[in-house]
Amino acid sequence: MSTCEYKPGLEGVPVTQSSISYVDGKQGILEYRGIRIEDLAEKSSFLETAYLLIWGELPGVAELEAFEHEVRYNRRVKFRIRDMMKCFPESGHPMDALQASAAALGLFYSRRALEDPAYIRAAAVRLLAKIPTMVAAFQSIRKGNDPVGPQDDLDYTTNFLYMLNERVPDELAAHVLDVCLTLHAEHTINASTFSAMVTASTLTDPYAVVASAVGTLAGPLHGGANEEVIQTIEEIGSVENVRPYLEDCFERKSKIMGFGHRVYKVKDPRATILQKLAEQLFEKFGRDEYYDIALEMERVIEERLGSRGIFANVDFYSGLVYRKLGIPVDLFTPVFAIARVAGWLAHWKEQLEANRIFRPTQIYTGPHDFPYTPIEQRRTNASEYS
Ligand code: CMC
Repeated sequence: MSTCEYKPGLEGVPVTQSSISYVDGKQGILEYRGIRIEDLAEKSSFLETAYLLIWGELPGVAELEAFEHEVRYNRRVKFRIRDMMKCFPESGHPMDALQASAAALGLFYSRRALEDPAYIRAAAVRLLAKIPTMVAAFQSIRKGNDPVGPQDDLDYTTNFLYMLNERVPDELAAHVLDVCLTLHAEHTINASTFSAMVTASTLTDPYAVVASAVGTLAGPLHGGANEEVIQTIEEIGSVENVRPYLEDCFERKSKIMGFGHRVYKVKDPRATILQKLAEQLFEKFGRDEYYDIALEMERVIEERLGSRGIFANVDFYSGLVYRKLGIPVDLFTPVFAIARVAGWLAHWKEQLEANRIFRPTQIYTGPHDFPYTPIEQRRTNASEYS
């Protein structure tokens, strides 16, 4: 008989010791390497934050320059990967395309030297640099166009938007997206990070680590929620319909996407920052009618579910920001993935520094010594298979 208590979803069960990030779900505090997310959102950049997460401290001027330079000159993707992506169905989800492309990198960079810091750095740079190029490439390909290559004089986020839309973006738009990437870069042991750690613990290559994490992020209970937020707002259609729509959800006990969190029992601090970013965009480019619906949703949910600790999470306002930036809805989660690569890599590196393969246990609930029934004596319901 097992002596340990089963915790569905591993709620509250520590699976590692980590110094990468910290969440206080009661006070709504998020820190990367001890630095408040609000400070990083205001003062840092995504690449600087990625460096902080992966290597543990903020880079000096020369270190940051060298890192940015390495990332800039690793943004190209092999033509075979681009050609492989051209064979993907246009109707396929961009997260599936990204997962396959991230895994394909392992075919081209198959040398594995997990003990070598130079290898770790090269792999981290390569993944940070190439993932946005692959996201943008699939977008161009499914529109029937050739992928747009990176432009070396553009910074990380400006270049991503340039490759995506085939034109250099507005400065505020690029800045806002860069802050979004910073906000999404890391978030302790969530499902995709755990997936990355489990894969890393087998000592496989970092491309497999990132590919498995991308697959995990895609689900609607995790990164995929931001897509569903926009679909919900679309379905609601008007401010007047918010309350009746939500009352119906409460009645049916169906979950409202973009709300609730395993750890946060107050409003997610990233949602607060994203809401401000959305407002900055609305000020410059015009208000989105969906924002009024979103505000009313937040009001009603706070009133009805706030006492149970269910508030807006990061995915609630990120969709509105991406929509205003002209990013298609099914690219919201790939954009989340671009950012979270930084966190996955930080956990990959940390896992390797004190590795033990993940091999948890289970509480067996099936029978023992069950007789083997010959096939002709088994009962089968043929219609189940027709
Ligand atoms: N709408 C309505 N009720 C909710 C919601 C919601 N969004 N979230 C939780 N609840 C209720 C849930 O029905 C349950 O009620 P009861 O105790 O009566 O059965 C209770 O709160 C606990 O919910 P849970 O699903 O057991 O909580 P969890 O910690 O396992 O799940 C969660 C956390 C994020 C999966 C969940 O809140 C959820 O499904 N939210 C909607 C999806 C979403 O927005 N996901 C993005 C999460 S943040 C970013 C990320 O991780 O990618």
